[in-house]
Amino acid sequence: MIRHIIAAIATLLAIWAMVFMYRLDREANRFGEIQKLLERTKMEVKVEKHPKVSSLTPSETNAVKPQSKKEDEAAKKLKALQERAGNLMAFKVSPLYKQKCSSCHGVNGEGIIGPKLIGKSSDFILKALEDFKSGKRKNYVMYGLLSKMDEGQLKALAEEIGTFQQKLEASQKQ
Ligand code: HEC
Repeated sequence: MIRHIIAAIATLLAIWAMVFMYRLDREANRFGEIQKLLERTKMEVKVEKHPKVSSLTPSETNAVKPQSKKEDEAAKKLKALQERAGNLMAFKVSPLYKQKCSSCHGVNGEGIIGPKLIGKSSDFILKALEDFKSGKRKNYVMYGLLSKMDEGQLKALAEEIGTFQQKLEASQKQ
């Protein structure tokens, strides 16, 4: 008799545990979905904000949220590095690259804040640029930049960056 009671209790416990796990699972799923939702809204907000931030005056920028403080620091670092990098140029680059890309990727693609680009193939660069632009690869900086460029410019840049390694080697032989 006692054995039966114990068996019954064990079964009940097992069922209860199952229900509990199921609930927990659902809860976790819901939590995950909320997080995803938040992520998405955050992304939209940032993406929208990006072009505006650059057109604001510094005092307005400071008012825009904690994130802009980081951007301020990044901008300062950028300037310092830019000045330093200006002296290291080994070969000439197009005005488009110089204006739009060199501040983060270096005058010759050696990489500063953005990764090193020199030595990477045109195909790789083009794919990366297209993915940033389409949002397939997420990066707000690159996205904001590329959203104002057309396919022709992306191709030209990819083409050019693909020749950096060669140009560097040529300049070192001189
Ligand atoms: C304000 C800084 C900044 C500027 C300006 C900038 N980039 Fe970037 N770029 C980055 C950062 C940061 C990453 C790394 C993003 C990542 O991997 O998610 C990146 C990544 C890349 C990559 C991918 C490299 C890899 O190894 O995967 C390519 C290609 C690239 N940038 C090209 C360009 C080109 C071309 C321009 C000019 C039109 C440009 N970038 C301008 C910051 C910048």
